[in-house]
Amino acid sequence: MSAVQPIGPDAPPRRPSATAGPDVRRAGPAHLAAQLGAVRQLTLALFAGWEQALPALEVPLHPELNPPLWELGHVGWFQEFWTTRNPQWRRGAAADPQAARPAPRWPQADALYHSGQVPQAARWTLPLPAAATTRALLAQQLDDCLALLRGAGDDDAALYFFRLALLHESMHAEAARYMAQALGIALPERAPRRRAGAGAALHVPAQSLALGQAGGGFAFDNEQPAQPVTLASFEIDAQVRRWRDFLAFVDDGGYAEPQWWSAAGRAWLAAGARCAPRYLRRCDGQWQELLGGRWQRLDLELPACHLSLHEAQAWCAWAGRRLPTEAEWECAAQSGGARFVWGEVWEWTASAFAPYAGFVPHPYRDYSEPWFGTHQVLRGASLATPPWLHDARFRNFYLPDRNDLYAGFRSCAR
Ligand SMILES: [Fe+2]
Repeated sequence: MSAVQPIGPDAPPRRPSATAGPDVRRAGPAHLAAQLGAVRQLTLALFAGWEQALPALEVPLHPELNPPLWELGHVGWFQEFWTTRNPQWRRGAAADPQAARPAPRWPQADALYHSGQVPQAARWTLPLPAAATTRALLAQQLDDCLALLRGAGDDDAALYFFRLALLHESMHAEAARYMAQALGIALPERAPRRRAGAGAALHVPAQSLALGQAGGGFAFDNEQPAQPVTLASFEIDAQVRRWRDFLAFVDDGGYAEPQWWSAAGRAWLAAGARCAPRYLRRCDGQWQELLGGRWQRLDLELPACHLSLHEAQAWCAWAGRRLPTEAEWECAAQSGGARFVWGEVWEWTASAFAPYAGFVPHPYRDYSEPWFGTHQVLRGASLATPPWLHDARFRNFYLPDRNDLYAGFRSCAR
């Protein structure tokens, strides 16, 4: 590890990653309308990529996947369900999700696309409208939504569901990319990855802060209410770990050494007979990665990616390090300024996904509450995350076993 840089009171103010875009959480109607159009263009471009790679749009039934045609219809359905079909949309987070709604534009839409009510495995056998019909429906849904937004004014409650629909569609855009990667498909316009050598560490002094603190604008329910925390000083990597770091562990026989793995990690290793990270192989003494279905030489200065929580923890045990808690991550992101580099890959933290004290679920009940206690928090963002989703407060969460995500980690000194 190279020199530790202190973070002091003269550190630059909080600044999101260099890839961060405009702050849609505070945006007014005009900017929000532009971003809703931008994310829809992205959705359609990604779907066109699916159509090109898989003309029949057939993907295997698998817990990590969804049919691309279902995904397309679902983002339009979600937007319509929470904005134009929501009689209480002006109340924002205080809206009653059970309030009676008018019928959807597509008569059976609720039975097809309601993610909380249509089991994942059932999505392969639904009578979905064809792609051209779905695209036409999405265009109407967006037009309806934008017409409503034009008269919404600019208070946060009235803009809540428009911002939610935008962020929700952004999450599905990222899902399209990691599902395509799992299937060996290259979707268009993948962002270039950043090469970097071994990074510095940052020293963060003891301090008190409020997690999730924000002055107005949009927040997800799991970011609220703001949580006061007091942290001891800690040392944290200034960037995520690179393949060079992680593969030293693999080359040291780490996958065959039970001592580095948790009990859950050992079970995960055994279940998959794993001896290396997903999408990697050794060939003639060189590491290669499978990218968009093609094997190519691995660049060791790229962020380690597609790792499960178990792999991140095992590396830390081997290296004598530890994962940051989500509070430490947010503290470092807020106080580290540009020296704390994030946004390359999602970062596993040491924190189980749990409600902040005083949590109140928002109308989109399926978003957070069903996943408390089983999922693990990831912070940051990845290059596949649309920039308007980047926020240092954002709490992503997945099961510890997932290794299909654009997820890696950074570490702290013990
Ligand atoms: Fe969704």
